[in-house]
Amino acid sequence: MVKVITVGGAVRDITFYLEEGKVISNRRKSIYSKLLAIPLGKKVYLRQAYFSCGGGATNVAVSLANLGISVAPIIRVGQDPRGQIIIDDLKKKGILTKLIQTDRQLSTGLSFVIYPPQRLKQDRTILSYRGANDELKINQQTLKQIKYQWIYLSSLSGKKWTNILKQIMDLKLKHPLIKIAWNPGSNQLKEKKKLNKFLSITDVLLLNKEEASELIGTKLSVNNLSKRIVNLGPKIVVITQGKFGANVYNGQQNLHQSISQHRLVDATGAGDAFGAGFVAGLILFDDLKKALDLAIRNSGSVVSKIGAQQGLLNRKILKKYN
Ligand SMILES: Nc1ncnc2c1ncn2[C@@H]1O[C@H](COP(=O)(O)OP(=O)(O)OP(=O)(O)O)[C@@H](O)[C@H]1O
Ligand SMILES: [Mg+2]
Repeated sequence: MVKVITVGGAVRDITFYLEEGKVISNRRKSIYSKLLAIPLGKKVYLRQAYFSCGGGATNVAVSLANLGISVAPIIRVGQDPRGQIIIDDLKKKGILTKLIQTDRQLSTGLSFVIYPPQRLKQDRTILSYRGANDELKINQQTLKQIKYQWIYLSSLSGKKWTNILKQIMDLKLKHPLIKIAWNPGSNQLKEKKKLNKFLSITDVLLLNKEEASELIGTKLSVNNLSKRIVNLGPKIVVITQGKFGANVYNGQQNLHQSISQHRLVDATGAGDAFGAGFVAGLILFDDLKKALDLAIRNSGSVVSKIGAQQGLLNRKILKKYN
């Protein structure tokens, strides 16, 4: 028995801080307003390079475990050293790894996070190879292997994600007491029509403001977006706004909280740390305000360190809520 299973991505992240290169504005602003320019045909030096583990389902699992919540991720890695590093790291943190899938053909996902020399706040480019993540599959058998109370579904890549949604929906129909937290990715939000049924079984929907606008199809204030989204079915809607904090709405209570600290070093993993903190808060305190507070603190702490997992809060923080 674990409290939570997480479903979604697992990657190795490599964070590069460029010594050369430039951010330039793009004349065709309708596509990308800024571009990262590095010389072609030349060796470009790095100021620093860091390896770390990442991917939504992995980050959330590590964060929950740090907060003392038992967890098992359903992720897919390749049969390679990168995948083994991810598995070993999870084991070391006391996380149940028996639901992890190994792909015989594809290698483990890999992300290059590239910061330009000027370090323009949150501006970074991520080069992403999804690899084995694209073949992640689940069926009722997978979902029956262990007992749990929550499913945290993070963003899904590849073409097989609709089936993952269907499997979780079938499970929820059979076991309505299992709670579903969902942080959909761009791959999901691009196909809105396929999301309606899943939204209606979602207990906690986590989005950033751009994703919330995309889901509704128009830019509105956070309060109006929250109201429109709750009407689609989720019981609790959380909209994060980067350095402007986050909002929670459950159809009655509407809460906002500002960020806890201002030292941004690497924004990678902010969304995952927020989601993990929020769900941990609901599990531990069953209180919206405390859950929002823990989410803000956890994400604020992660963005003050390099990588998606350094800086995640541990159980010591829980004393604050007594
Ligand atoms: N510069 C920052 N300083 C402090 N906290 C931050 C900062 N940026 C983000 N956070 C925290 O992280 C939360 C989530 O950030 P954001 O809204 O950027 O999510 P996201 O776009 O989903 O992130 P991700 O790119 O990780 O998916 C914010 O609500 C905030 O609490
Ligand atoms: Mg996000």
